[in-house]
Amino acid sequence: MSIYSIVLAAGQGKRMKSKLYKVLHPVCGKPMVGHVATVLERLESARPIVVVGHGADAVRGYLGDRAEYALQEQQLGTGHAAMQAAPLLADADGLTIVVYGDTPLITEGSLRAMIALHREKGASATILTAIFAEPHGFGRIVRDADGNLDRIVEQKDCTAGEAAIREINAGTYIFDNRKLFAALARVTNDNAQQEYYLTDVIGILQADGERVLAYCTADPSEAIGVNDRAALADAEKAMRERINRAHMLAGVTIVDAAQTYIEADVTIGSDTVILPGCLLRGATSIGEDCVIGPQADIADSVVADRATIRQSVLTEAEVGADSSVGPFAYLRPKAKLGEQVKIGDFVEIKNATLGDGSKVSHLSYVGDAVVGRNVNFGCGAITVNYDGFNKQVTEIGDDAFVGSNVNLIAPVKIGDGAYVVAGSTITHDVGAGDMAIARERQTNKAGYAEKLRNRFKAKKQRG
Ligand code: UD1
Ligand code: MG
Repeated sequence: MSIYSIVLAAGQGKRMKSKLYKVLHPVCGKPMVGHVATVLERLESARPIVVVGHGADAVRGYLGDRAEYALQEQQLGTGHAAMQAAPLLADADGLTIVVYGDTPLITEGSLRAMIALHREKGASATILTAIFAEPHGFGRIVRDADGNLDRIVEQKDCTAGEAAIREINAGTYIFDNRKLFAALARVTNDNAQQEYYLTDVIGILQADGERVLAYCTADPSEAIGVNDRAALADAEKAMRERINRAHMLAGVTIVDAAQTYIEADVTIGSDTVILPGCLLRGATSIGEDCVIGPQADIADSVVADRATIRQSVLTEAEVGADSSVGPFAYLRPKAKLGEQVKIGDFVEIKNATLGDGSKVSHLSYVGDAVVGRNVNFGCGAITVNYDGFNKQVTEIGDDAFVGSNVNLIAPVKIGDGAYVVAGSTITHDVGAGDMAIARERQTNKAGYAEKLRNRFKAKKQRG
């Protein structure tokens, strides 16, 4: 039987007090609605229908062709929102999953378990519930004397007795598709918020004698519904713990998981050690047997096997196998290091390729450069790539030596095996195997230090 899904994502999310539409708020680096879409994509189901309204273009722009879209022009409630999928779906036979775009922690496991239960018991609706210590704000699960699901009551419509119920509606449902749309047509807005509640479908089906089931998750974090920034932080924490745990179970050592922030799409090879204080973000991928941190902030970067990254910031950078970066290095976009490269303290690399075995050990800036293999940059050597108007390229051949405090004024080329003497300011190309020296000759004046001191002292006394 076909499986369809509807994601409700049309609300503005007033309680977020934000310019960003609620379902686009990121949790561990990924918009909430993106987490929901990822989970749905893992099921053997049709493309989800995402109901959009507030921020429709932004949500469409983010999800693109991962979804089909239904527009809810006015936000009249979750039941009304689900109804907007009717033209696309009402005539189909099958099961329909309905999920809210603000519940980023739902899992594939729970959806599969709900579908299995739903089919086994021949149910018309199966809802996901959880037991919350503080259920305030959520719809409560009302069960009959036999413990069977009876209906869902929204917070604002609760009697005092109902408000004391700790089992809540997680906002994730499996429905028989035709029965869902038939029941939605009968939902009214006769309630405290004057909204058409999707949750009323449960009571309607129950009254019709249909079988409705509740599947209570053992992990309440799965039911976090993000309505405000406090819940956003709860979701972030729960997601972070889940991500870290999955990496640990896959063979990554995380020394202090409470101090480690790994976003949803990051990949890490086994036997890599993550020391405290690291942020691994975006489309970052880390190889095997690496040591990362402490305090590394790595975004959208690729780090190959056995690399070491200490106290450094990497953005859109590539680090080859067996290379070492930091402490206190900054790899900016298009920094591309080969294998066994060493980048030391207070070094910045931007839009530059460094060949295997090259070393930039201290206090350097290498920008807009193509550097060969086994090149050594001395302390303080820099590429002078910018004249205030244009960015110019520096090229350095294999095995070249760039002495300490050398300025390479781009555009300039240093040939293979060339030797640039410390303190030189290089404005002309240096041929392969040549030595370049470009600095003032030194003069020593015998015994002059004492004379000089006396002169300065007298000047100070004169005032
Ligand atoms: C809803 C449930 C509540 C449940 C909770 C779980 C209803 C009536 N209540 O409450 O039982 O415990 O979720 O998190 O369903 N939306 C639309 N169009 C609308 C209204 C909402 O698309 O007209 C979308 C929102 O963008 C959001 C989702 O539906 O993603 C849920 O709406 P929200 O206002 O957050 O409902 P809750 O008050 O959290
Ligand atoms: Mg909500």
